[in-house]
Amino acid sequence: MKTTNNKPIVLITAGPTREAIDPVRFISNHSSGKMGYAIAGAFLDKGFEVILVSGPVNISLSHTSLRVIPVNSADEMYTACQKYFPVAQITIFAAAVADYKPAQVYTQKMKKSAHEFSLQMVKNVDIAFEFGKIKRNDQVSVGFALETNDEEQNALKKLYSKNLDLIVLNSVKDEAATFGYDTNKITIINRDFQFQAFPLKSKAEVAVDIVTAAIKVGQKQEQAVQA
Ligand code: CTP
Repeated sequence: MKTTNNKPIVLITAGPTREAIDPVRFISNHSSGKMGYAIAGAFLDKGFEVILVSGPVNISLSHTSLRVIPVNSADEMYTACQKYFPVAQITIFAAAVADYKPAQVYTQKMKKSAHEFSLQMVKNVDIAFEFGKIKRNDQVSVGFALETNDEEQNALKKLYSKNLDLIVLNSVKDEAATFGYDTNKITIINRDFQFQAFPLKSKAEVAVDIVTAAIKVGQKQEQAVQA
């Protein structure tokens, strides 16, 4: 799968999503986007054409081989990815996608009243799950699992249910490996139940480990096709 300039394509989702309540309010999360952007940088260094579908973040990255597609909501992120997933050799689902969105988006700013107020939420699209259903065997996909408990069990569940090739587990038990930090401590798990645990590193170094592991899966796929 090549672009016109013959570079392999990687699709990356990054950052948080924002789910609108009304024109001035939204629901979101603490994702900084740093990990996804670091992965984009590492793929650019390896000569990939990078499509970065990014929720709202305070990071800027520019490169001749990089296309950043800014989005807000999970629905927008999914729609943007639909165009590029079929041509991507590798897809990295690094975004912290909101699992729920308000059932109704008010067109006017909601006014406060004397009463209590509750918001009905409906499920958002699971982007990694949807693309897992149509992934071809010449494509590699990598997801993330940020867990507080039963880490390995939850990560494995996501690896299989979303038809991923690799899952990157980070535990919020590691204080310096959570939202906003410049460091991360990960374990990469593959479909052969191999666990590769890495020490605490900078997000730039962690990105290189993830990119190296993803490229290795792609090379194995190619060898399997040629065999
Ligand atoms: N993901 C996604 N779309 C969603 C939710 C998650 O693409 N709507 C992707 C994330 O980018 C990540 C992986 O799926 O690569 C796991 O995300 P996570 O939030 O840890 O898991 P969930 O499936 O949302 O499960 P839970 O929040 O219950 O742990």
